[in-house]
Amino acid sequence: MRTPIVAGNWKMNKKASEAAEFVGTLLEAGIDKIEGVEAVVCPVFPSLPVVAELCEGKNLFIGAQNLYFEPKGAYTGEVSPEMVKEFCQYVILGHSERRAYFHETDEMVNKKIKAAFAVGLIPILCVGETYEENQAGKTKDIVTAQVKADLAGLTVEQVTGMVIAYEPIWAIGTGLAASGELANQVIHDFVRTPVAELFGEETAEALRIQYGGSVSPANAEEFFSMPDIDGALVGGASLKPDFVEIVRVAAQCKA
Ligand code: PGA
Repeated sequence: MRTPIVAGNWKMNKKASEAAEFVGTLLEAGIDKIEGVEAVVCPVFPSLPVVAELCEGKNLFIGAQNLYFEPKGAYTGEVSPEMVKEFCQYVILGHSERRAYFHETDEMVNKKIKAAFAVGLIPILCVGETYEENQAGKTKDIVTAQVKADLAGLTVEQVTGMVIAYEPIWAIGTGLAASGELANQVIHDFVRTPVAELFGEETAEALRIQYGGSVSPANAEEFFSMPDIDGALVGGASLKPDFVEIVRVAAQCKA
C-alpha cells in the first residue's frame, strides 16, 4: 500500500506574509487532520522559514521548488541542499519550467537528486512531454528517457523512497488536464514499468507516482481513483483553500 501524496507547487507566488496567512487558512480548514494522505506545500525560498515554523509538529510537510547540487561556495544566487533541508522534507526537481526557462538538463537533474538524497531530502522528480512530442507519438520515448537519465546511478532504497510526478507539459496551467485513464496508462507503462526494469518490481511497486497538470477539486477523483496514480502535484489550485479539498479526495479515494 502506497500512502498518497498531494503536493502544492506554489511556483513564484506568495511572499512570506501571504504564505503565513495562507498556511494558517489551510490549518484552520484541517488539512493536517486528514488521515491516510501526505499533504505538502512548496513555497518560494524566502517563505520557507515562516511556513516551517507554522507546520512544526503538524501533519503538513514542506517542499522547496529547487536546489543547487553543490554543497557551498561561489554560486551567486543558488541555494544548497543543506540550506533547503533546514526547513524542508521534500524538494521538487526537474520541473518542466526549470527545464524550459532555466535550461536544466537531465544530467543536472540527476545531480540535484543525488545531492538532495545526500542531505536526507526526498525528491519529487517531474517528467513529462510537450504538446508537440505528444502529438508526434513520442510520449513513451521522452518520458522513459527522462526516467532513465534522471534516476541513473541511484540505489534501490533511494528510488523506493522518492516521488515522481508525471506532468504532461500541455496540461500544466492550461485547464486542459489529461484524462485519468491516459495519465494512469502513461504512469504505468512509461514510468513504473521502466523503473521495474531498472530497479526491480518491488521498488516500482513502492514508488509513489503523482499526476500533475490542471488538477482541481473538480477532477481530482478522476485521477485518484486510478490504481497507478498515488497523488498529485498541484499548481494553480494549490494557491487557494480548495487545495484542502484535493487532499481530502485523495485520502477518500485511496482509503
Ligand atoms: P497546474 O501546475 O496545476 O497549475 O497545471 C502543475 C505544476 O506545474 O506542477
